[in-house]
Amino acid sequence: MSDAAEEVQVKEGQATLYFASKKGVFYNPPQIPNRDLSVLALQQFSEMWASQPSKPAADRHRTLRQGSAPAPADAGAPEAAAAQEPPAPAAGEASETATAEAPTSLPASASKPAARRGLRVLDALSASGLRTIRYAKEVSGLREVVANDVDPVAHQTMASNFGRNGLLEGGGEQSCRVTSTVGDAAALLYASRPPAGERFDVVDLDPYGTASPFLDGAVQAVSEGGLLMVTCTDMAVLAGAYPEAGAEACFAKYGAWPLKGKHCHEQGLRILLACIDSHAARHGRYITPLLSVHINFYVRVFVRLRSSKAAVGLDAHAIAMRVIVQKLGLLEIAPASLCTEVAREAWLASLQHILDQ
Ligand SMILES: C[S@@+](CC[C@H](N)C(=O)[O-])C[C@H]1O[C@@H](n2cnc3c(N)ncnc32)[C@H](O)[C@@H]1O
Repeated sequence: MSDAAEEVQVKEGQATLYFASKKGVFYNPPQIPNRDLSVLALQQFSEMWASQPSKPAADRHRTLRQGSAPAPADAGAPEAAAAQEPPAPAAGEASETATAEAPTSLPASASKPAARRGLRVLDALSASGLRTIRYAKEVSGLREVVANDVDPVAHQTMASNFGRNGLLEGGGEQSCRVTSTVGDAAALLYASRPPAGERFDVVDLDPYGTASPFLDGAVQAVSEGGLLMVTCTDMAVLAGAYPEAGAEACFAKYGAWPLKGKHCHEQGLRILLACIDSHAARHGRYITPLLSVHINFYVRVFVRLRSSKAAVGLDAHAIAMRVIVQKLGLLEIAPASLCTEVAREAWLASLQHILDQ
């Protein structure tokens, strides 16, 4: 049988994947909803990105303080100011919009704010390149998608798939540049953080199992107000399905102890979000969850990243400790800041009517 006769084709969305033989196929149908949802979410984010500046960094502060003004420490912070600006071009890179849209004859103050540039996306664990092809062909407003995989065979497959999907001759329908790299995603993420690296506006993590090894690099590699999309397929660990061994694994990977119960899927999402946020906090950043879903055997979250020292300080109020009211099987959530005796007593008193049942 000839090589061509053995070739396998898979169609999904506007992408067609080509594999040399059935043996070499990496295609995961249960993840189709994940990819469909990611295309929709990225399109929505791209429109948001183009139409408005990033939300002020103090938003989370306001929400948690129920309407109070931003703290002085935040108001003057350079991170807060940066969060309200369109992303600056990376070092050594010309500003496309400044040269294209601000006529030199007008004083800078009289010109309108330059339109934001299209999004630069990293598909960090790309395998066959399927997500990259779908993003490049189905989402508008992208300037570049970089596909990466540590496996040289996957890299070869994706490069060939990009060519056969018409994405290498100058960008296909959306004029979106598609490039591929081979290497460890964590190393690429660390190399893409400031001050030396150019951040990505969107990072997609879709690994086998947990994404935890990549989170620390990812929260630093996303630009101000940018989007981080994360899949974790170790649902049993996140949901506390195997008491003890699984819970220990969850603690090791995510820093949380899962409890078995009806709340397990929501709990898995909350554990992942708290884990991403705690990584972000180490670097003076915080997350705003936009969409968090549990599907089948995995979770998928979409969060925005911004920098603000004052908002990071509020993690103690935003991150919760869970308390199961065992008798009733209820999930109660209390902020970590309730570690003081007085606050804990007050909180327990507010639950007394439940405990009394
Ligand atoms: C679940 S697959 C990705 C599937 C793909 N995102 C999709 O939607 O079709 C995970 C991929 O991650 C790659 N991988 C595993 N460890 C990696 C690492 N440290 N850096 C980069 N890629 C890695 C594997 O080679 C594999 O191709």
